[in-house]
Amino acid sequence: MEEDSVESFEDRLKGAESTSGGNPLLVQLVQTLNSAVVYSDAGNFETNKKLWNEYAKSWRAEQPWVQRMQQQTASGSSQETAADDEHHDLSVPLLGSEWSDTKSLDEIVSNWLLPLFSREQHGGKTSGLTVGEIGVGGARVASKLLRRVPKNRGAVREENGLAAIDTLVAFDISSEMLKKAKQALRDLARVRTGPPFPETSAAAAAAEDDAAMPSVDLHLLDSPDLPPSYTERFDVMYSVDVFPHLDLHVTFTYLTHIRRSLKPGGLCFLSFADLTSPGGWSRFARQKKYSVGGFYFMCREMVTTLVGRAGLQVVRINERADEAHTRGTSATTEAAECATAGRYEFAGGKNVYLMRDILVVVKRPCE
Ligand SMILES: C[S@@+](CC[C@H](N)C(=O)[O-])C[C@H]1O[C@@H](n2cnc3c(N)ncnc32)[C@H](O)[C@@H]1O
Repeated sequence: MEEDSVESFEDRLKGAESTSGGNPLLVQLVQTLNSAVVYSDAGNFETNKKLWNEYAKSWRAEQPWVQRMQQQTASGSSQETAADDEHHDLSVPLLGSEWSDTKSLDEIVSNWLLPLFSREQHGGKTSGLTVGEIGVGGARVASKLLRRVPKNRGAVREENGLAAIDTLVAFDISSEMLKKAKQALRDLARVRTGPPFPETSAAAAAAEDDAAMPSVDLHLLDSPDLPPSYTERFDVMYSVDVFPHLDLHVTFTYLTHIRRSLKPGGLCFLSFADLTSPGGWSRFARQKKYSVGGFYFMCREMVTTLVGRAGLQVVRINERADEAHTRGTSATTEAAECATAGRYEFAGGKNVYLMRDILVVVKRPCE
């Protein structure tokens, strides 16, 4: 049976495009011209923009294809409810909940993203962090983050040792995704859409402080890079499930812009698709060719080379799932056994991101 995935959504989109338009002569002419053009590639940015706009426009939690994706994800990983339900809003599925099980994403948020907000990382600061997310999508990750960090700027909650966010700038190239993000974040933050973002007056700022909510600026990008106006603006940056859809050159541009946009000493968490891991290999083997709906695969050496060339330092990187296993790390056992057996498939209770991705925390050196 054909699986439902972002790739199959992309295939349906291509199929619909080639049969719509009504004029078969015109379709034939375009196809003929296309084959006569040496470089007919629409480019990574335009293709991503089109795919994710259509995806977000078509997405409804009750759509059969979304539900099938959700079931497939659930059957390939753990659906255990996370221990602390205060942190989850399981009643309303957000766009993207079909891409991984809740537990896998919660673990990544807890173990990889939240440590970047520890007050120790920010010289004891308790509040006022400025954060940037590249490719916010439907705010699946941002909504988890905003539920977990302290909410108010003044009376910061002491118990979890994290610094409060003042502003999260959420970048995306898809206006339709940003509409979904706006809906998802409306109860968690003061959400503004732009650019430009209006200056906040002193009176409005005081009222905002009373509201004890962070601001989220939803920034629609019109090219695959971060504007220079964000130079040295961010304490923390992150991007989850976005770089797997970018090609190597777009990835490198972003890395150099991440360096420019971080404050000296600032940290950034990123995920890449890992060709060398069992879960990554399994996805690669299913793909017939590269497409933005599929993944652009990397290995650790490629990631560390690009990160170094961009002037960033790796401060943390996950081990390959099967290597961790040979040293006896139990969380990766099942994937490693499958890899050893040459099947490169795994199912049941393991973290989909640790099995499939390169997770890395990078730092802009302080100089
Ligand atoms: C698979 S979704 C992930 C969304 C979100 N990070 C999450 O994990 O739920 C990929 C997102 O990256 C965005 N994207 C694709 N190419 C991009 C680019 N060059 N710059 C910024 N965002 C991009 C897409 O529009 C989409 O919202």
